[in-house]
Amino acid sequence: MEVADRGEVQLQDLTVVTDTKGRSVAPPPVGDVDEPVVCFDPGRVLADRDGCAALTELVGRLRTIGYDGSPYASENDATRADVSARTLIALARREPTTRHDVVGALGVDAVSALIRCGALALVDEDVLLTAKVFPMRSLYTLLPGTPPGQDTVYLGPDSLVLFEIVWAARGFGDHAADLATGNGFLAAALATRYDHVVAADLSSRCVSTAGLVPVVNPHLRTRFAAVQLDVAEGLRPGSFDLVTANPPWVPETIAPKGDQPRRFAAGGPTGFELPRRFIDAAAELLAPGGKAFIACMDIAFDNGHRPLAEHLPRLAAHGVGATVVETRLNQTFDYDPRAARKAPRAASARHVVVELRRPS
Ligand SMILES: C[S@@+](CC[C@H](N)C(=O)[O-])C[C@H]1O[C@@H](n2cnc3c(N)ncnc32)[C@H](O)[C@@H]1O
Repeated sequence: MEVADRGEVQLQDLTVVTDTKGRSVAPPPVGDVDEPVVCFDPGRVLADRDGCAALTELVGRLRTIGYDGSPYASENDATRADVSARTLIALARREPTTRHDVVGALGVDAVSALIRCGALALVDEDVLLTAKVFPMRSLYTLLPGTPPGQDTVYLGPDSLVLFEIVWAARGFGDHAADLATGNGFLAAALATRYDHVVAADLSSRCVSTAGLVPVVNPHLRTRFAAVQLDVAEGLRPGSFDLVTANPPWVPETIAPKGDQPRRFAAGGPTGFELPRRFIDAAAELLAPGGKAFIACMDIAFDNGHRPLAEHLPRLAAHGVGATVVETRLNQTFDYDPRAARKAPRAASARHVVVELRRPS
């Protein structure tokens, strides 16, 4: 099977999402609106107090309705009879929606504020939300598109696979850090189990998007901070109960066709140069008894070189245990040909999560 890499596997492929009844959920239709009339600028929205208040209201209403991203979301008895609910669900699904109905649902001030900060685009008589709303039970995060020349705020199947593994470990505690956080959805989930969560990313576009997590989930406000960091620079070593990261792990340094480097994907020539920095940083951040989960690729080269396997014993020398778990993505995607195309002499590639443990 042809493997989609990170540039190709975007939200459109999140077939693993299920609604509250366990039904498989297709992603919201994006139709021809992938490049919206106005691009969602998370920094601009974050700086706009009225825009943030309107977003809080919009997502709060979606939460009250129980919007779960499902295509059946507007089909239950309650929403079928409720014009406002159907309007808000259509907005969240990025369907062009009559301006009149949206004003009816949210009020004229909120709609004006959303238009002013660029969170809503005007398309003739309709309005269109310029970012996707990504629901995860009672948590909601935002996913902006990628305007030309700007960093991608990434969310893909590998993001969800890491989430599943972290969630299944059932940890809780005081301090957690999600490094390379992207839109902050995993950090948002962690904030329901950890009292203080740092969501860190190098991309200012990602940091601003993650900064909107407490705007659309006000109950997390005191537990969640988004910060711009290179890997984990500046975070206090030995003080985190949990560290997670889905760093860039595609073997590449510059983008195909000479475009800008794909910051969300490019892990270095072997795909392990950047993940190695995250693994080492995570090991340093762990408090006694703490755990870390880092997603990456385990690539083997035809000369026997295997960057991940060769690196892990160095962690043991620093008192940190490591286990490598292959993820279910390998059942869907054959990573071998993709790795071979991207990294000369790559013989095999498996998507894995590295679990680190610092003894108590
Ligand atoms: C594959 S995306 C993962 C995003 C999110 N964690 C997820 O799983 O959906 C990788 C992220 O790493 C960030 N990144 C790239 N280089 C980084 C660095 N040196 N330090 C911190 N973050 C970095 C990118 O901006 C991007 O958001």
